[in-house]
Amino acid sequence: MNHRLVAPVGITATGQCFPPRVVTNDDLSKILDTNDEWIRTRTGIRERHWVEPGTGASQLGAPALKQALENRGMKASELDLIVVATVTPDTIFPATSCRIQDMVGASNAFGFDLNAACSGFLYALTTACSLVAAGGIKKAAVVGVDIMSTIINKEDRTTAVLFGDGAGAVIVEQVEEGLGILDFEHRVDGTGACYLYMPAGGSLKPASAETVANKEHTIHQAGSEVFKNAVREMADNSRLLMDRNGFKGEDLKLFVPHQANIRIMDAAAKRLELDPARMMVNIDRYANTTTATIPTALHQAVEEKRVAKGDLVILSAFGAGFTWGSTLLRWAY
Ligand code: UT7
Repeated sequence: MNHRLVAPVGITATGQCFPPRVVTNDDLSKILDTNDEWIRTRTGIRERHWVEPGTGASQLGAPALKQALENRGMKASELDLIVVATVTPDTIFPATSCRIQDMVGASNAFGFDLNAACSGFLYALTTACSLVAAGGIKKAAVVGVDIMSTIINKEDRTTAVLFGDGAGAVIVEQVEEGLGILDFEHRVDGTGACYLYMPAGGSLKPASAETVANKEHTIHQAGSEVFKNAVREMADNSRLLMDRNGFKGEDLKLFVPHQANIRIMDAAAKRLELDPARMMVNIDRYANTTTATIPTALHQAVEEKRVAKGDLVILSAFGAGFTWGSTLLRWAY
């Protein structure tokens, strides 16, 4: 079944924010048993940005949203809704969306956080666009922000090298007929929860001296299990969207995959029979920023004029949960 919105709604501006500190593979090889060659060839990552300690998600999310508002020529007070996708909120509560609302001065907005790990931005985009399409609100912002450096075990080379910090934001509103979100397909499979998770710090296992000593507040990942599933589901899910809307690989102007591993992205693009030049890549500079990979890659595509009004675009993600999904859209501006 095609998941069409009841009115044409799409992205009308983008913004991003990365912290200034760049951490290269060579920097990491000074503190971990790793090296630039392994990281580059196995993941495609050359460097990542990490915040200075004491920086919360809102401090990257708010500037990203301000930039998107500026690019749209819109005042923060015009926003009706802010949805923030994150796995690293400033605090468990209140929601990071509340802090961002205050920091940007979105005096007429309501907002909430949404957690779907690496698929979070796509789920948040669908949620915000659906609310706008339903007619209750006019203008919404979707922010994907993660401060992954605060939840990695910096002594574990199998995960510490993979992640970066960053934020991307988009504005969504009604657009011309035929543009914006055309279709989406999102899925969850909870049997995958054991392959990528943070064991402690939630209600199941609250923080204690023991959980902290055991580094249970950091990412635990069975990399190869996640890898296999990510390649299959991102490709199959994107293919399903193209097939049911009557498009072929050559019709796509831009493929914007979640940036977790260049080998996953290349394999997905190959299974979709896409020209590799049409795939957005920013993993080399920013690593895996979880919910921020797709909005920052989109922002880059706009800045580099790699997407224009009417172009067909697929966004696709896979992450912890397992969660995955794809969104098919015609670029609206
Ligand atoms: O965004 C959320 C979704 N996450 C993902 O999509 C991540 C999916 N998984 C992956 O990207 C890959 O599985 C990894 C990059 C995490 C790992 O790559 P891999 O090719 O699956 O490597 P591996 O785990 O099979 O490890 C191969 C070897 C091991 O050594 P032995 O046992 O063969 O001696 C690891 O200990 O590479 C070793 N290794 C490292 N060596 C140097 C693992 N990490 C490193 C490292 N530096 N950083």
